[in-house]
Amino acid sequence: MKNTNEESLQAWEANADYWDSKMGDNSNYFHCHLVRPNTEKFLDIKYGDFVLDIACGNGNFSQRLAKNGAIVVAFDYSTKLIEHAKKRRSDVLDKVVFCVCDATDYNQLLKLKREAPFNKAVSNMAIMDISDIEPLFKAVYDMLSDDGIFVFSTHHPCFTHPEGKYLTPCLHKGEALRGQPLLQNYYHRSLQEILNLAFNRGFVLDKFFEVADDDAEMPILMTVRLIKLQK
Ligand SMILES: C[S@@+](CC[C@H](N)C(=O)[O-])C[C@H]1O[C@@H](n2cnc3c(N)ncnc32)[C@H](O)[C@@H]1O
Repeated sequence: MKNTNEESLQAWEANADYWDSKMGDNSNYFHCHLVRPNTEKFLDIKYGDFVLDIACGNGNFSQRLAKNGAIVVAFDYSTKLIEHAKKRRSDVLDKVVFCVCDATDYNQLLKLKREAPFNKAVSNMAIMDISDIEPLFKAVYDMLSDDGIFVFSTHHPCFTHPEGKYLTPCLHKGEALRGQPLLQNYYHRSLQEILNLAFNRGFVLDKFFEVADDDAEMPILMTVRLIKLQK
């Protein structure tokens, strides 16, 4: 699925203005009510936390992190989205550095490193958009302090696999926002595919939540908290 990365990036670039106009300053219902509450509970931001915001889009969550006292390095591979983020979040640019970086490229990721290690990393609803997550999991592990935490939310793979395959990783096209200019690539991976990558790297699973919306018995997304074990 790696060789579809450029195509995925082009779709995000084509949809960037639409995404920014729909998400606006405060984000949408989905993010505010389904994604954010558990992510924030699991992240438990404290004043002075040093946080990596992975695939930050137009920076809505980066801004919240900063307002809650964190210092943030936020990145996305869409140059246009990073431009939107810098414009929309101009009031927190003393606390958030926005960078263009491709999460599938380990060497690019390591350039996000600063003198001190991050003690927290977060990725809201992007794991299913990233063509290859192995470099990301490796880089996040390497850039976190011992006992550092990595929280991510993503499609719940058990209930969101439109190709009808569960165990086999596969790509499908879809819409993040109704009416967006181009369909985008989604990368389905089973739970074991995602979690074993994390476990093999040295993370342990510490908290897990499944989030339902209209159908209370069918979670559409999951929020995962991983901890970097001390070696
Ligand atoms: C559904 S949006 C979520 C944005 C943001 N985290 C939020 O919750 O508002 C997914 C984001 O992943 C980004 N993305 C996808 N693949 C990426 C990659 N390889 N490297 C960096 N960002 C990527 C997209 O550009 C997009 O901004």
